[in-house]
Amino acid sequence: MSITISVPRETRAGEQRVALVPEIVKKLIALGTTVQIQSDAGDLAGYSDDDYKAAGASIHNASDVMQSATIVLTVNPLDLEQIQRLPEQSILIGYLNPWSETERFSALQHKHISAFSMEMVPRISRAQAMDALSSQASIAGYKAVLMAASLSGKFFPMLTTAAGTVRPSKVLIIGAGVAGLQAIATARRLGAIVEGYDVRAAVKEQVESLGAKFVDIDIKAEGSGGYARELTAEEMQLQQDILARHIAAADVVICTAAIPGRPSPRIITTAMVEAMKGGSVIVDLAAEGGGNCELTQAGKNIVHQRVTVAGPLNVPGTVPNHASELYAKNLFNMLSLIIKDGAVHIDLEDQILKDSLITHAGDIVNAGVRDRLRKPGA
Ligand code: NAI
Repeated sequence: MSITISVPRETRAGEQRVALVPEIVKKLIALGTTVQIQSDAGDLAGYSDDDYKAAGASIHNASDVMQSATIVLTVNPLDLEQIQRLPEQSILIGYLNPWSETERFSALQHKHISAFSMEMVPRISRAQAMDALSSQASIAGYKAVLMAASLSGKFFPMLTTAAGTVRPSKVLIIGAGVAGLQAIATARRLGAIVEGYDVRAAVKEQVESLGAKFVDIDIKAEGSGGYARELTAEEMQLQQDILARHIAAADVVICTAAIPGRPSPRIITTAMVEAMKGGSVIVDLAAEGGGNCELTQAGKNIVHQRVTVAGPLNVPGTVPNHASELYAKNLFNMLSLIIKDGAVHIDLEDQILKDSLITHAGDIVNAGVRDRLRKPGA
């Protein structure tokens, strides 16, 4: 039986990304699959229906795009209405937000969908090409710096003019993971003096290799799977005491410290914001999880005592063309584990597939999601 891959239009408010771009459609067709795209799915990312047609896809409306689909690709989780349109036993790959909204997983389970969560792709070397969290975090880190630069009343670079010399901005990046490192590189390219801080001591070298100074606080909080663990109360106090000085000296602070599935750690208190210079800017990329700054309001820019605190949501979605291109490449690499010799085969022994699979063959196979379904609201 031939493989049909479907891409519905994203329904999340403000989402501009699309799961497949024409370049990847061509590659999938070369593998012998059929590709169905919902009309206008790529519009906001810069791809027209004609671009997809030229790549070999067919264009459909919302009610029939998933008809006879073997595999459905999305960026954001499908809503319940869309899940009802999924063919029984089909494969769904996308962000599934496995830490919430468990009723969607019951719906996927009852339709015997094999649902793969891009958030759960393990952090192992072989999985780097499928790692959408990384590809999108890198975009968020880049864009956060541009947002900060445009909100700031200062230049980033040093500027020598006939009227005198302007000193460069000081930028502090809190959390030097994928987003943070890209933010450091971007702020450096704009000419700022940059400091980076992370609870994982292992990143010191990476921060320094990008030309930034590492703020060394004697905390080593490496957790499992490449993630940081939560800090103890004592460690948090030590962190706050030292960071407070660096935050007060910064013109721009970019926060990226997130712990997946948990509320973001509170690192910047109101008192720390109040100690910043007037006109300073905080861009809090952790806003989605509640923010690293106490004053962050998700989706809003607020001004507190002349300091702007921005809590942007879905930052990768604001760079939709390249974000979609990289995401589509991640999906293609994921599909190459599932499509073998023109047929679908889910190898449950493959760690990448096993770790990211949430529902399969009428079961909820992810233990975390299963437990939360048993204890709703937990
Ligand atoms: P993330 O989005 O989970 O967190 C962002 C950063 O914030 C991390 O560096 C984390 O250590 C830091 N952080 C957490 N709590 C903090 C706190 N209280 N104070 C200060 N910083 C805090 O992490 P991300 O960016 O997705 O990845 C982190 C690392 O994981 C990468 O740098 C890489 O080494 C590894 N990784 C490996 C992959 C692979 O091998 N396939 C894929 C993705 C990441």
